[in-house]
Amino acid sequence: MELNLIGRVAVVTGASKGIGLAVTHTLLAEGARVVAVSRTAGDLAGLAGDLRHVALDLMDPAAPERAIEAAVDAFGGVDVVVNNAGGPPPGIRLPRGSFLDAADADWQAMVEFNLFSVVRLVRAAIPHLLARGGGSIVNVATTLARQPAPMSADYGAVKAAVLNLSKVLSEEFGGQGIRVNTVSPGAVRTPWWTDAGGAADRIADMAGSDRDTVLTTLAPRMMNMVTGRLVEPREVADVVAFLASPLSASTTGAEFVVDGGFLKSL
Ligand SMILES: NC(=O)c1ccc[n+]([C@@H]2O[C@H](COP(=O)([O-])OP(=O)(O)OC[C@H]3O[C@@H](n4cnc5c(N)ncnc54)[C@H](OP(=O)(O)O)[C@@H]3O)[C@@H](O)[C@H]2O)c1
Repeated sequence: MELNLIGRVAVVTGASKGIGLAVTHTLLAEGARVVAVSRTAGDLAGLAGDLRHVALDLMDPAAPERAIEAAVDAFGGVDVVVNNAGGPPPGIRLPRGSFLDAADADWQAMVEFNLFSVVRLVRAAIPHLLARGGGSIVNVATTLARQPAPMSADYGAVKAAVLNLSKVLSEEFGGQGIRVNTVSPGAVRTPWWTDAGGAADRIADMAGSDRDTVLTTLAPRMMNMVTGRLVEPREVADVVAFLASPLSASTTGAEFVVDGGFLKSL
């Protein structure tokens, strides 16, 4: 399917690995020009296409505006914003054991990384999207926003706010050509899960198992995933790319779930 993304300018956060890397890869393959935002370049060096990496820490309130400025400087404007960066803020590991394990500072860091970085990037991008007659914003949330989990109470609550915000933005700016949608992944096989000390190791410690067993068997079973396996990052990226594309011109204020059948509610 031709997504009509050739030459469009996309800003993707959390782009150096995991879902953001897959999104960047897919958008570049579709001919988009991409400004990739993350602290390190990670695996971006292996990608072909019109790509600029901007090294920014999204815990810095000034970073989102710099990301948009970088896109305008490099490519003359912005058409697509993918707020993908999120998950555990620097220094925090998820899942936790309990709600009681998160202090105020942990909650504040969670809000800063998962909500304020989105708020600030959208605020900086909107004038530029409007200048091009509109565009597409895709925010990455999580199924835990709908299926609350005590082991990640702060994370789920903040991502629920992202869902709410996405809908509000779609209402306010839809008439001016800006579409805003959310993609909610379930458990995705990214470094968040696979890295040493990552989610798989934490679950392995709690369950008396090992990383590989958690990734291949235990996590899909614990989460009752219909497909019986974790989601691959490119499977999330394909949905993001569709929402970035003008092919989804009548889709706004929507949430797309990519979770291997984890959510059971209608
Ligand atoms: N993986 C899952 O199972 C899952 C499930 C549901 C939702 N999600 C959501 O999907 C999104 C991506 O998750 P992922 O699993 O792909 O994450 P990941 O593998 O941990 O990658 C995180 C990305 O964010 C960047 N990043 C981290 N801290 C940053 C900071 N302070 N400033 C700028 N960039 C930063 C990292 O690059 P640097 O380290 O180079 O900065 C990396 O590119 C998140 O919003 C997450 O909540 C993931």
